Amino acid sequence: MSTETKPPYSPGLAGVVAGETEICWVDPNAGLMYRGYDIHEMATKANFEEVAYLLLNGELPSAEQLASFSKAIAAERALPEPVLEMLRLMPKNTHPMDMLRTGVSMLAPFDPDLNDHSHAANVRKAMRLLARVSTLVTDGWRISQGQQPLEDKPDLTHAGNFFYKLTGGVPQDWQIRMLDTIYILYADHEFNASTFAARVTASTLADMYAAVTSACGTLKGPLHGGANEESMKMLDDIGTPDRAEGWLKEQLAKKAKIMGFGHRVYKAGDSRVPIMREIARDLGKRLGKEQWVPICENLEKTMEREKQLCANVDLYAAPVFTMLKFPPELNTPIFAVSRVAGWCAHVIEQHDHNRLIRPRSLYTGPALRPYPGSAANGQQQ
Ligand SMILES: CC(C)(COP(=O)(O)OP(=O)(O)OC[C@H]1O[C@@H](n2cnc3c(N)ncnc32)[C@H](O)[C@@H]1OP(=O)(O)O)[C@@H](O)C(=O)NCCC(=O)NCCS
Repeated sequence: MSTETKPPYSPGLAGVVAGETEICWVDPNAGLMYRGYDIHEMATKANFEEVAYLLLNGELPSAEQLASFSKAIAAERALPEPVLEMLRLMPKNTHPMDMLRTGVSMLAPFDPDLNDHSHAANVRKAMRLLARVSTLVTDGWRISQGQQPLEDKPDLTHAGNFFYKLTGGVPQDWQIRMLDTIYILYADHEFNASTFAARVTASTLADMYAAVTSACGTLKGPLHGGANEESMKMLDDIGTPDRAEGWLKEQLAKKAKIMGFGHRVYKAGDSRVPIMREIARDLGKRLGKEQWVPICENLEKTMEREKQLCANVDLYAAPVFTMLKFPPELNTPIFAVSRVAGWCAHVIEQHDHNRLIRPRSLYTGPALRPYPGSAANGQQQ
């Protein structure tokens, strides 16, 4: 019998500190900081490129640095033709998250820095990924809808170009501002499941594309990024604010998991919810679709009373994306267009200070027992 002393066990790694990071701090009391800056301030003042630069490089850019970073991202947006061809070969009903994961993986051999894990090469790869994840989502969607991908508009920002590439229309300034804010809110969240998956992959000294492919696979699940697609199905099903309380109580009685509620770290509210709620309110007023926020607020009140659980950002992201006229299947991929900045920053940090991430498990199988001989060789007794 083993005499090994087991380390303490925490199911789901809840409360376990699995590494150090200088990138982001999630304060359980509804706070969120990127490299020391409060996102509540940056969300409405910065643009996404500025935040991506901060995450990847450690400091905010000067005006000159921001201009050259934005230009470099814009120059990297086009996908290699074989990747576009692969997107065309995918079955028409492929989920955009599956297209994205496959696309990121296929981009790897086209990157001349693929197997160079030096800091400078990793930053270059991160910029290419930042640019091309957005294009994989927009071009992949258009191809799946039987449309041609559009040429980039390099004079537009990352958020503006996303709108244009998806719809063919040049967005208004307020739409770009909103998408920038959404991207900023989603850009990083310390050791969330997809970022942790990216870091585990990077810790084997696998390349950044392998790590981001792992992250895309992990983001898809409804307990993580997939929740914003599922939340919209729930809100559609509820339909009007007066139905929210009854609907929720019915679901809770059936022990259903309610998408857009609960969080592993936040126990006093998700730092991103107040900003996303106000975007939803603003959009509702502009578009005459004012039912979504009261539905969500009624759900919040009922959930607080019944289960003491707070809403997370995905509850309000769902109606925001719907009102911005994004197809619901793109809710999670849009999250990825932003979170790729965080994933890449964490891969850079992991490679810069690497130690293999390899925890232990608690063995719960049978105790040591005699082997009865091989069935293949007729030796079994
Ligand atoms: C995010 C999430 C995975 C965190 O899980 P977790 O930290 O393991 O939370 P726990 O499972 O320990 O939850 C504690 C209790 O609250 C319940 N709970 C947590 N989230 C819930 C939800 N969304 N709906 C209903 N009950 C929920 C759990 O069932 C558990 O109840 P119990 O003690 O009676 O068994 C979980 O809250 C969830 O599944 N949320 C819905 C998906 C979602 O919105 N994800 C996006 C996160 S940003």
